[in-house]
Amino acid sequence: MARILVTSALPYINGVKHLGNLVGSMLPACAYARFMRARGHEVLYICATDEHGTPAELAAAAAGKDVAAYCAEMHDVQKRLGEGFRLSFDFFGRSSSARNRAITQHFAERLWANGLIEEVETRQVYSPIDGRFLPDRYVEGTCPNCGYEKARGDQCENCTKQLDPTDLINPRSAISGATNLEVRTTKHLYLRQSKMRERLSAWIESKTDWPLLTTSIAKKWLNDGEGLQDRGITRDLSWGIPVMRGAEPWPGMEGKVFYVWFDAPIEYIAATAEWADAEGLGEAAWRRWWREDEGAADVRYVEFMAKDNIPFHTLSFPATLMGSGEPWKLVDYVKGFNWLTYEGGKFSTSQGRGVFMDQALEILPSDYWRWWLLANAPETSDSDFTWAAFQAGVNKDLADVLGNFVSRITKFCRSKFGEAVPDGGACGEAETALAAELQTRLDACAAAMEAMEFRRAAAELRGAWVAGNEYLQRAAPWTVHKTDPEAAAAATRCGLNLIRLYAIVSRPFIPDASDAMLAALGLDAEGLAWPSDARAALDALPSGHAFTVPDNLFRKMEDSEREALEARFAGNG
Ligand code: MF3
Ligand code: ZN
Repeated sequence: MARILVTSALPYINGVKHLGNLVGSMLPACAYARFMRARGHEVLYICATDEHGTPAELAAAAAGKDVAAYCAEMHDVQKRLGEGFRLSFDFFGRSSSARNRAITQHFAERLWANGLIEEVETRQVYSPIDGRFLPDRYVEGTCPNCGYEKARGDQCENCTKQLDPTDLINPRSAISGATNLEVRTTKHLYLRQSKMRERLSAWIESKTDWPLLTTSIAKKWLNDGEGLQDRGITRDLSWGIPVMRGAEPWPGMEGKVFYVWFDAPIEYIAATAEWADAEGLGEAAWRRWWREDEGAADVRYVEFMAKDNIPFHTLSFPATLMGSGEPWKLVDYVKGFNWLTYEGGKFSTSQGRGVFMDQALEILPSDYWRWWLLANAPETSDSDFTWAAFQAGVNKDLADVLGNFVSRITKFCRSKFGEAVPDGGACGEAETALAAELQTRLDACAAAMEAMEFRRAAAELRGAWVAGNEYLQRAAPWTVHKTDPEAAAAATRCGLNLIRLYAIVSRPFIPDASDAMLAALGLDAEGLAWPSDARAALDALPSGHAFTVPDNLFRKMEDSEREALEARFAGNG
């Protein structure tokens, strides 16, 4: 049994996430965590809301709310949506927690002591009308690189270039629109990432098993000079973690906070401490996941994220951890994702284009989304969500194949043998052949899950469902029953056992359907391990074992419904 720590990129607090965000981080992390739990490993899956920075302040202002109150509300909204999608977090924390404040300040103190933080006089945009400095997104203007007129002070959305507010041409305040901005000098802390280039480079080079998407992005940032520049890790904002050296004030830094990208990944650690607190466990309980000297040396740590997050997780956060000089656990495997597009274009919050997590759950239960998104995850390239593909996928795989199988065999058994697994003849060649095919499929599915290749895993799982259907089609107990009731009983018993098998192996993808299948069989998910022997699994339920016919597991989406959804989510842009 291994110990596996799983984290997914922390969703920003500034609004409900869309399906692309979900499939690029939290959903595959959940499926992986569920699979590894079913394999008997000790798994801890940690996530949280990312609550600091200008996006949070601007969203709160737009909602006319105090930022702390806004974050508390939005945290609850995101937490509830996570539950709605059956995301199996062991803990869903908040980067604004007291734990994160203390641990972030601790790292700053360690980095300072090790000469990796520098105090720098910098030029910042100041707005006399607003009476404040304007960091990051508080300034908008024209991109010096591509001429885009709505570039933000931290990055140009059009050409993706990382910017500094003072780079913008014709800058204006995002708060008041004021254009009479000044540049004033003030002191900020810089993380001397450049001093760690060698160490980071050697570490990345040692990760020969990482996916190409991850290492190519990391190496590009490492080598093209842009990524590993020393970066400002403080801001002139009131919302955030106050700049302190551990518990000591930091002279000259009064009124400043850490930059959101400095404290956000530290929240992976802090949220683990929040988890221990919530469970009433002591310090050792979380430290054994994070401190190599306190048990974490044998933890396997896997991170899930979309590709825009890769530089921060492969360079900046490791720089913080390594730079502390303390034995913190570094990530073992970074699973990155490409983009999910919506009907050939971008998801857009501002234009109401694409489906967001709250809307999705109002349309269909979470299993439908989980299945389609995982089966079409943007792994080796971007993938496109279309309502037509979604409709075709869920109607066929879930309703026609799996749902139909469960309904057919339970109803047939009830009508001919009653609501218990029938006695009857021994299994024969057909069942042996089925077991062999299932074994191949399930081994391949497990190997794909181990490798975090979700499309491939879903394809193998679908293959296992199809194999059951084909078996039933060939065995045709409804026909055979007239001439050979013994053989019909054997096939029926096998079919009922297949439901149990499907409930177990489908669980990482469609946990609610899995619950419904298990409930129909009077079984509990607790203690049901991933089957290592398909042949034995077909005999797991003894004759006489009672069951009930479940409600249809899945419904089909009609064409008229699809058309209405296409129109509803087309956006106004
Ligand atoms: N909030 C960021 C995003 O949505 C991700 C932060 S991941 C963390 O892109 F590790 F920094 F927390
Ligand atoms: Zn640009």
